[in-house]
Amino acid sequence: MKKKKIAILTGGGDCPGINAVIRAVTKKAIYQKGMEIIGIEDGYHGMIENRHRPLTYNDVSGILTLGGTILGTSKTANPYHYAVKKGNRLEFRDVSKKAIQNIKRLGLTCLVCIGGDGTLGIAHRLFKDGLPVIGLPKTIDNDLRGTDITFGFDSAVTIATEGIDRIHTTAQSHQRIMIVEVMGHRAGWVALYSGVAGGGDIILIPEIPYDISVIAEKVKERNKRGKRFSIVVIAEGAKPRGGDAVIQRMVKESADPVRLGGIGFVLGEQIEKTTGLETRTVVMGHLLRGGPPTPFDRILATGLGSKAVDMIEDKEFGTMVGVKKNSLVTVPLKEVAKGPKTVPLNHPMIKAARSLATCFGDE
Ligand code: F6P
Repeated sequence: MKKKKIAILTGGGDCPGINAVIRAVTKKAIYQKGMEIIGIEDGYHGMIENRHRPLTYNDVSGILTLGGTILGTSKTANPYHYAVKKGNRLEFRDVSKKAIQNIKRLGLTCLVCIGGDGTLGIAHRLFKDGLPVIGLPKTIDNDLRGTDITFGFDSAVTIATEGIDRIHTTAQSHQRIMIVEVMGHRAGWVALYSGVAGGGDIILIPEIPYDISVIAEKVKERNKRGKRFSIVVIAEGAKPRGGDAVIQRMVKESADPVRLGGIGFVLGEQIEKTTGLETRTVVMGHLLRGGPPTPFDRILATGLGSKAVDMIEDKEFGTMVGVKKNSLVTVPLKEVAKGPKTVPLNHPMIKAARSLATCFGDE
């Protein structure tokens, strides 16, 4: 019988755990199912430009703990909106037909797309256009619909928490207000979880626009109680009431060009002005995306990758493997493509933090 052939691509921002999931899919597909595996290089770029290579069992041996992605990734390549340079200008073209043809020529049983909402939104379109696709939920932001958790999130929260712990001691020594800005795009998951884990006094997330006077009050009240330092954990997408998030840069060739960042510095100036207390800002940025995955993410990635191979055998195309109430589930990509999953305002973690007098900048 002819061997089944599958391809894997990784799209969007990298995160700890991608290699763990590539390893799980590849090893199981080869060892248990006798499949042939192809790695598409640099996300959808490789699909459009027909760049790929075979993946053997040995190629993925020893990468469980490795950060990044051995296949490379892209945050700009979208076959339906592909930037092409024309002199000094950028032109956007729909090159999806060519990209789909490239994949069809490989004679694949399935294309496994590892990504966040951008990558899996594209995967959904590819599925509707005739490609057998299966998705795997990757992002530090945890903002993906159809799953309670994405791999990469626990690692990012762990790194952010370590950063907050380190900031805590120096804040205390110098009696300063220290602001830690963390990634998360338009969602506050990373800030909420690391803020709670790191004992942040003030946690600011995009879902709850903040009022500077409430923050200043909280800081002053702590000072009166003898706590002459405060820790503020702020999501890069956080915004003041009636205001906007801070845009760090626009990446023109990207279908989603806005890159957030810098709100921590804006807030720092405001706090200093309002309270007269020395305030410093640290931006954790891409540190949250690098290095080895936590044991939790390694286990999650292994489980998700293994389930994806079963789904290929069962021909459950057009779906993603998700986690619901601690079980692995199959979710239609249609559901995932509906847009980002933000933190619900009645989230138990917000309630718990509020009950300990943690301030969210709104009351
Ligand atoms: O989606 C992952 C993420 O790290 C977001 O948290 C962040 O807003 C964005 O990607 C940063 O993108 P870039 O790597 O292009 O700076």
